[in-house]
Amino acid sequence: MKLELNDSSLLKTKAFINGQWVDGDTGESFSVLNPATGAVVAEVASVGQAETARAIAAADAAMQSWKALPAGQRSEVLERWHGLIIDNIDDLAAIMTIEQGKPVFESKGEVLYGASYLKWFAEEGKRIYGDILPSAGDRRSIVIKQPVGVVAAITPWNFPNAMITRKAAPALAAGCAIVLKPAGETPLSALALAELASRAGLPAGLFSVLPSARSSSVGGEMTSNPTVKKLTFTGSTPVGKLLMKQCADTVKRTSMELGGNAPVIIFDDADLDLAVKGALVSKYRNSGQTCICANRLLVQEGIYDAFVEKFAAAVKEFRLGFGFDADTTHGPVVSAKALGDIDTIVQSAVKQGANVVTGGKPSALGHCFYEPTILTNVDDSMNIFSEEIFGPVAPVFKFSTEEQAISMANDTEFGLAAYVFTENVGRIWRVSEGIEYGMVGVNETAISSEVIPFGGVKESGQGREGSKYGLDDYLETKYICMGGLQR
Ligand code: SIN
Repeated sequence: MKLELNDSSLLKTKAFINGQWVDGDTGESFSVLNPATGAVVAEVASVGQAETARAIAAADAAMQSWKALPAGQRSEVLERWHGLIIDNIDDLAAIMTIEQGKPVFESKGEVLYGASYLKWFAEEGKRIYGDILPSAGDRRSIVIKQPVGVVAAITPWNFPNAMITRKAAPALAAGCAIVLKPAGETPLSALALAELASRAGLPAGLFSVLPSARSSSVGGEMTSNPTVKKLTFTGSTPVGKLLMKQCADTVKRTSMELGGNAPVIIFDDADLDLAVKGALVSKYRNSGQTCICANRLLVQEGIYDAFVEKFAAAVKEFRLGFGFDADTTHGPVVSAKALGDIDTIVQSAVKQGANVVTGGKPSALGHCFYEPTILTNVDDSMNIFSEEIFGPVAPVFKFSTEEQAISMANDTEFGLAAYVFTENVGRIWRVSEGIEYGMVGVNETAISSEVIPFGGVKESGQGREGSKYGLDDYLETKYICMGGLQR
């Protein structure tokens, strides 16, 4: 399958450092694969520690004049970047589909979602307010907000565009520079974004993109270099913990958007059709590969059989296929490793007694396709209750009481997103307040947008992305005491 673009110059295969397209010092490269076919899409330059250090130094130099600009001027650049992304949506979506696998309609949705963060923070960046605190006598106490400094970002493959703009937009709006390592599976979307940022007039050095097959050498420099003042990461909890430990030596600020184990709690009194629709969207979006995907469907016993019947009927209508085919509803998972991990979880559940309602194995389409799967007869003693599945597999657990549902929902080290379906207003509040999650969807599972604070509690991370709260992650609070006023 050949990638056809309206603007072929958006397909970049070199690193973007200090405004230049460069090869790595060693000349190494790595292959980007199409998960739907296994074919090599591109060979991309691989950088390491030395190039990362140069990008960080360039970022530090570039942000000195960037942070001194009026916020409105930074905003204009972000607005232009946003406009160019919209203008090139078809190409960006095609690049995403070929390297990540999601159907083109989902890729386009992600490009719009990603662009929305640029627009949002172009506006929010103009509203970085300080404060005057109650003070009297010969002094006044003032609070100002300043950019945190050079930001390093490590982003995942599941949203190759939006997870980048969700970090770059607030960082740049706040007056910071950002150096970014995209996932090895999906560097092409990141590099295309860099090209558009450059066309938008973003000065050199403010946004460098460091593709690498040697993640630990790039990550090691990002976490140890004292010029980097903040690390922002989206990815797994074990890697997040490691990065936090590495950042401790230079006491960097961190934002961590880590793993999830989202429950969708469906009570007997729920609107069944709404709950089925919500569970479908949440579970199978991006073929189950989002941190906020439903990981556990918890369904009350009175509605359980009816729910499974309707849910399974809808899943059997899915059209698994190549992302570029018009009738494809769901694509492959990202890699052969991901496919293997998903199948291991499913087979282990089956061995422990789970029933396969539909799916349950790799698809006959081959490569990285896994059949959309539903499992029943599952319980909290099984691995599938506690592990993040990150694939198109829905285990449907049964519960009896509200207390039991809350306790099952909280029985995990994760706390990113949870969902509740009920028509009872009192229960909405009891459950929303009783579950330990950073985000709760009530009768709704499509909860993400640039307007809301995205983030988790417990081992799902810290910090918030998007919304009016998202800028704080890139700002320092400075207290200025003005004394001697009675002289
Ligand atoms: C994620 O999986 O981390 C992001 C999902 C979203 O933004 O909705």
